[in-house]
Amino acid sequence: MINQDVRSTNTTTTLMQRFAVPFEFPVSFTENLFDPENLTLVDTLCRKEADKKHKIIIFLDDGLAQARPDLIEEIKAYAKHHQQHIDLVAEPFLVPGGEKIKTDLHFVEQMQKTLYDYHIDRHSYAIAIGGGAVLDAAGLVAATAHRGIRHVRIPTTVLSQNDSGVGVKNGTNLYGTKNYVGTFAPPFAVLNDIAFIMDLGERDKIAGMAEAVKVALIRDREFYNWLEQNSDDLATFDKSAMSYMIQRCAELHMKQIGQGGDPFEVGSARPLDFGHWSAHKLESMTRYHLRHGEAVAIGIALDTRYSVLKGLLKPGEDDRICFLLEHLGFKLWHPSLENRNSENALEVIVGLHEFREHLGGELTITLLSDVGVGVEVHEMDDELVAQSINWMKLRQES
Ligand SMILES: NC(=O)c1ccc[n+]([C@@H]2O[C@H](COP(=O)([O-])OP(=O)(O)OC[C@H]3O[C@@H](n4cnc5c(N)ncnc54)[C@H](O)[C@@H]3O)[C@@H](O)[C@H]2O)c1
Ligand SMILES: [Zn+2]
Repeated sequence: MINQDVRSTNTTTTLMQRFAVPFEFPVSFTENLFDPENLTLVDTLCRKEADKKHKIIIFLDDGLAQARPDLIEEIKAYAKHHQQHIDLVAEPFLVPGGEKIKTDLHFVEQMQKTLYDYHIDRHSYAIAIGGGAVLDAAGLVAATAHRGIRHVRIPTTVLSQNDSGVGVKNGTNLYGTKNYVGTFAPPFAVLNDIAFIMDLGERDKIAGMAEAVKVALIRDREFYNWLEQNSDDLATFDKSAMSYMIQRCAELHMKQIGQGGDPFEVGSARPLDFGHWSAHKLESMTRYHLRHGEAVAIGIALDTRYSVLKGLLKPGEDDRICFLLEHLGFKLWHPSLENRNSENALEVIVGLHEFREHLGGELTITLLSDVGVGVEVHEMDDELVAQSINWMKLRQES
């Protein structure tokens, strides 16, 4: 069906092109993905063409490979067991884990060259296994090689399973700016394995939980209550509590992206960025010494207190929310919150202006009017931000 408007003036005829492309991808939750008896991966690869032998190439986070020395052999054994459907074209390629892979485009080019060398076409698969940083870089590679090849994400940190892995963005840093180069490109599939989470260091297990508190606070009071009721188990990383927390958090992110009306972030609202404007600034001020989730927990505390000072949220809810975050293992203070620039302005407030620029001019910040209810505002009062920081400081001193 042709769906075009035609507009004409004295000088110009304009045809308006218009089409919509539906996106769909499965997000699976399993345990021991590379156990030969586990069919999740092979079924995923066969989702579109059941009887084909599928060419796959794997980029593997070297930090994960270190924590799981047997993983490469497990992957090879899995591919061999399912050789009727899987053609693993080479041993998994180790790539630098963590922010390192995103700081130099050289790694992106290197991965693209690997796809080229192994003739990975638009019906083959580039599979990335690792933390959010490796998924972001590999996602960019897959989105741009041949203008887009099938990309399967296997996230292996709490944050990448409950948040970034189910998103539709990828990217790497450039010119000192985080995620400056990237695309919106939904993956072919996302496969989460809880066993990977159990190998993580404590700090990363805790950090990712900030995103669950965040999304519960803005969207789902019931989930927030569940987090409170299960905070003892979460604080000791009980597998079944972690598993539910990750799945529910991922589900809420998926709902926002799929049904929120703006999956590719064309407008200025970023509800999922509650607590993030200051977090991004804190991450860069501390030269990424603070993990993303650690900075987000501090950002949530700041915006929660601000919501109370602004009269949006009931007094006392700020303490309640801070208590949960602390019980989960977060520290809600960092000295850089008090950093001032040469004009004596709080640097974190400068971050607010940078956030406005990132959004494209109009500032939209999500605050809270209740637990489970986010509200948008378009300006922030610098003085109240300073007071919120002061409150946080006094709180950690007492
Ligand atoms: N695309 C998006 O929508 C989006 C959203 C949020 C965050 N992100 C990005 O995600 C990145 C952060 O991701 P992250 O928190 O997953 O951390 P990360 O990718 O930086 O990984 C942290 C460390 O854990 C190691 N690792 C990974 N899995 C492991 C495992 N199972 N056991 C032991 N070690 C393991 C890595 O090698 C790395 O050293 C940032 O670059 C951030 O910008 C992207
Ligand atoms: Zn985040």
